[in-house]
Amino acid sequence: MRGERLDKLLARMGLGSRKEVARLVRSGRVRVAGEVVQDPGYLLPEGAPLEVEGRPLRVRRHHHVLLHKPAGYVTSRTEGPSVYALLQGFPTRDLSPVGRLDKDTEGLLLFTTDGELLHRLTHPRHKVAKRYLVHLLNPATAEDQKAFREGLLLDGKRLLPAELCWGEDPTCVELTLREGRFHQVKRMFAARGNRVVYLKRLALGPLLLGDLPKGEARLLTEAEEAALYQAVGLGGQNPQGEV
Ligand code: URA
Repeated sequence: MRGERLDKLLARMGLGSRKEVARLVRSGRVRVAGEVVQDPGYLLPEGAPLEVEGRPLRVRRHHHVLLHKPAGYVTSRTEGPSVYALLQGFPTRDLSPVGRLDKDTEGLLLFTTDGELLHRLTHPRHKVAKRYLVHLLNPATAEDQKAFREGLLLDGKRLLPAELCWGEDPTCVELTLREGRFHQVKRMFAARGNRVVYLKRLALGPLLLGDLPKGEARLLTEAEEAALYQAVGLGGQNPQGEV
């Protein structure tokens, strides 16, 4: 396979605009297989190790960015304030959100450049778990638990079984879904005569929000990527397609 232009690849890795990375290359701070390369148009041979400013650069075919979405941001490119405003430093042009969180919902929002991964993560066939922390106006009940477990009827459609649990306080619950319909959590509780007053996504498949500060974003680790691809049946396919 023909190699990719060095400036194009570095821009795709989020190191700057095409102009900025061309300047970086010309300044002699980029090495390919240990040799300084100063031509931004250099075609990078497949598998060649790359260093930028003395640090090895892991070349990725796809990016996956995990954001701790704060309330008040819209999962949209065109409406504001947009979640994309929180992704500065990442190659936002090619990143798409994996599902949506409502403007007032907080928590884990994943973005990816991999269309097949996105499709599989959002398609109910793959039953990827989405775990939410939910604060309710009224306490949840054992009947809610049973109704969700058996698959609630919403708009004439039977939902997939969902797990509802809580500790000491039945107004502070966790709900795990295996599909992602429009306003699903809020509508499920509304159908039970209750109301969601706070909603935060804690986990998506094997990914955990953890202690990532609100408003911050980070790339997935290699272990997280591998677990994610595994979760949707794309495991063992060298998903990052290392160059
Ligand atoms: N369900 C909702 O109702 N809202 C969200 O943002 C996510 C899931």
